[in-house]
Amino acid sequence: MNPTTAVNTGNTSDSQSFLDLQSVSKTFGNVIALKDVSVSVPLGAVTCILGDNGAGKSTLIKILSGVHKPDSGAYLIDGTPVVLDSPRAAMDSGIATVFQDLAPQPLMPIWRAFFLGNEIVHGGFLAIKRAKAEVRSQLASMGIKVRDVDQLVGTLSGGERQAVAIARAIYFGARVLILDEPTSALGVKQAGVVLRYVLQARQAGVGVVFITHNPHHAFLVGDNFYVLNRGRLVANYRKGELELDTLVQEMAGGAELEALSHELREFT
Ligand SMILES: Nc1ncnc2c1ncn2[C@@H]1O[C@H](COP(=O)(O)OP(=O)(O)OP(=O)(O)O)[C@@H](O)[C@H]1O
Ligand SMILES: [Mg+2]
Repeated sequence: MNPTTAVNTGNTSDSQSFLDLQSVSKTFGNVIALKDVSVSVPLGAVTCILGDNGAGKSTLIKILSGVHKPDSGAYLIDGTPVVLDSPRAAMDSGIATVFQDLAPQPLMPIWRAFFLGNEIVHGGFLAIKRAKAEVRSQLASMGIKVRDVDQLVGTLSGGERQAVAIARAIYFGARVLILDEPTSALGVKQAGVVLRYVLQARQAGVGVVFITHNPHHAFLVGDNFYVLNRGRLVANYRKGELELDTLVQEMAGGAELEALSHELREFT
């Protein structure tokens, strides 16, 4: 690892960060999912969390989004220690999470899913026309094209679903947007479109937490990079401090990659 990019193990908060996890640990039975992990999430920036399968990424975002409570360590919002005991509590603090499986309501029209849980009601009735107009204008303002807001969620492509979910989070004023592997199931073109929305959210001042296996995607949009390996933070870089190759190596674990390419050479 580059000597100028020491791993953060202690207090990583800086004056601009909005969310801070400090030395957080979480175990499930005898599995150590996270050990002494510190992460800072500033607003108006993309914070990438990278790591291989089982590295602890989902556990980390579940702590950030109020699904799990850490066994130890601190969670700070805007410098104040908090205990989030539900996803609702996280949402109330402006933290929106877009999970990978985005179609819990495949048979619902886009406009309805968009306002689910936040319905516009007028005189005891759903203000359908207004809701549709709001969704149309929000999608249009981000350049998101869908046939119509009456289209069923289940008929959208993976990239379109991610786009609508990002637009929704921005519409409802999310300050932090957590995206769990938003590009992993997508082809090159669709992934590019989703990465563009990630940058739009950043431009809107949102603190984006971008979870991915893909160092290339992270490198394209990231401002800060955290690499987890078996529950431990093994690297932390800021943009400009690293090359793409470093990130790829860091992700795979240099020695392991070396061993793998050696093994693969045996086949060829
Ligand atoms: N609810 C749970 N109960 C038991 N073990 C769990 C639970 N959640 C996670 N783990 C374990 O904690 C470790 C970290 O899991 P986690 O899901 O955070 O990894 P991940 O980085 O998201 O992996 P992937 O890329 O495969 O999604 C794994 O060993 C996993 O089996
Ligand atoms: Mg995961």
